[in-house]
Amino acid sequence: MDLSPTSPDLSMASSVRADLRSDTVTQASAAMRDAMANAEVGDDVYDEDPTVNALQDRLAAMAGKEAGLFFSSGTQSNLAAVLSHCGRGDEYLIGRTSHVLINEAGGTAMLGSAVPWPIEVDETGHFLPEDVRAAVKEPDQHHPVTTLLSLENTVNGHVQTVEHVASLASTARECGLAVHLDGARLFNAAVAQGVGIDAYATHTDTVSLCLSKGLGAPVGTVLVGDQASIARAHRLRKVLGGGMRQVGHLAAAALFAVDHHVDRLADDHVRAGRIGAGLAPLADHGLDVVHTTNMLWITPPAAVHGALVDHLKADGILATYWAPTMRFVTHLDVDDEQADHVIDSFARFFAQAA
Ligand SMILES: Cc1ncc(COP(=O)(O)O)c(C=O)c1O
Repeated sequence: MDLSPTSPDLSMASSVRADLRSDTVTQASAAMRDAMANAEVGDDVYDEDPTVNALQDRLAAMAGKEAGLFFSSGTQSNLAAVLSHCGRGDEYLIGRTSHVLINEAGGTAMLGSAVPWPIEVDETGHFLPEDVRAAVKEPDQHHPVTTLLSLENTVNGHVQTVEHVASLASTARECGLAVHLDGARLFNAAVAQGVGIDAYATHTDTVSLCLSKGLGAPVGTVLVGDQASIARAHRLRKVLGGGMRQVGHLAAAALFAVDHHVDRLADDHVRAGRIGAGLAPLADHGLDVVHTTNMLWITPPAAVHGALVDHLKADGILATYWAPTMRFVTHLDVDDEQADHVIDSFARFFAQAA
């Protein structure tokens, strides 16, 4: 889930010292900007942009898929993918907390008349193969035709294991469904599991791979899949106004990210763990902390939530300050010093409150 506020409320902040709202807030490094400036480009609507083509081929190969297609965003990639598998009135099954269901503006219904069927999940985003089987509709004039299972990984930072994804996908296939995976943070899951993304992608028809989350590119998602699915998605991308021209400048940033920023995702996971460990003693003050890959879900006692947010902002710490649970996300532009500043700020707040 990503509901990043468009403009941070800095009213209480002297200056920003750590921005942990999302892994989407990263700024391109000088080396990435060089790669963008020097990219060889062409008209991608004519399929003539060599850098876009290289990026698409690269990610397709990494995922073990036949083809890739560059999109401006994860939302657009997911939308084209779902609609490549669902005609009007067709149904897709999806976890109840999924980004596609909740945070993509209902696009699959608005633009494709595809019918989502939410499956209940636990707090880690899990649901079971039997939930999939039970949700598939019997052929009957009253029912929509179920054609797709749409998965996500990570789910709010929670890794769905390869074995689990494989078992969900094989049940979906037995039921005649296609499988799409919203892999906005699939690289985080793969790095955490010590596997390549192909270990996951092999079980799915299509996968959205975001470059603008933990990988730190400014823009872009590549949808990978079999030739037929990608051909349908290509047409849908055009419908959505997503055909872009000399977009190799953006693809160059994405290629740079794939070359340099995949393995280092482990650093983000360790750094989130460092914050989690640093906050652990505050459990005595009723602070609940859940660490999932590069995310921390922090629930303070309700009585101090507002004061804590004001204190953290005054210390220059940006996070997604939902209530009751706040979200902190580590990324390329968060270092150990900033992580320690977060720990110290929490500790000072609870020391004063005691
Ligand atoms: C899990 C997940 N899927 C998809 C998206 C959509 O990506 P975009 O913001 O590029 O449209 C996001 C965005 O944060 C996300 O968190």
